[in-house]
Amino acid sequence: MKSEDASKRIAEDFDEKACEFCDRYKESGLSASSKILLGFLTDDGIRGKSLLDLGCGAGAFTLEALKAGATNTVGMDLSAVMIKTASDLAGSSGFGAVAMFQVGNAAETDLPACDIVVLDKVICCYPDFSKLLGNAGGASRESLAFVIPRNAGLVGLFLRPGAWLMNLFEKRRKGSLFYMHSLDRIDAVLKSHGFEQSRRKASRIWLAFLYHRAHTPT
Ligand SMILES: C[S@@+](CC[C@H](N)C(=O)[O-])C[C@H]1O[C@@H](n2cnc3c(N)ncnc32)[C@H](O)[C@@H]1O
Repeated sequence: MKSEDASKRIAEDFDEKACEFCDRYKESGLSASSKILLGFLTDDGIRGKSLLDLGCGAGAFTLEALKAGATNTVGMDLSAVMIKTASDLAGSSGFGAVAMFQVGNAAETDLPACDIVVLDKVICCYPDFSKLLGNAGGASRESLAFVIPRNAGLVGLFLRPGAWLMNLFEKRRKGSLFYMHSLDRIDAVLKSHGFEQSRRKASRIWLAFLYHRAHTPT
């Protein structure tokens, strides 16, 4: 599938899910895997840092990062409805002045440089993970944190056919797909952009990772 077609399908699908994402956050806060990711960043020192939340959805992670001490944030998403929802939520939570949100494709848009880049359950939505990670990594001065499906061990063995079946259905209704990108290939792409893995932790079907910039790529 061409990347413009994939982006359009993602935007349309997630436009419809914006209310659900916002309500879930208001009712139950961050998901378990997102809490692990935020924990990596707070252990690392998030206070005073700038943060770029790519595929920010309804802005839940951005808001919690600001509450944890991040000073300013930019959230980007392909879905215009997610971005409107995130802006409204940040405004009503008192973070309107420090949380910026914009519609865009994080794999292709020029991204602002920042200390931390986050991709929370986003890489699994996008076909060209290499381009997405390359662009995201280029914007990060210090670290890159992300959550992806647990494509390893026994859980991976069950998840892969599940994803395949789900995608069969989504292809018929021309919806967005769920990608189980290879952990080794993700690691290789990040290494080629100058990052080294620092932390990894599983939460049910998800894996949270923290990478640090080891050097600027040549
Ligand atoms: C599963 S949702 C996760 C949202 C949010 N990070 C969270 O954890 O609540 C994935 C989000 O990533 C967005 N997305 C996927 N690929 C993207 C891309 N290339 N650029 C920007 N946003 C993207 C989708 O529109 C969707 O809102």
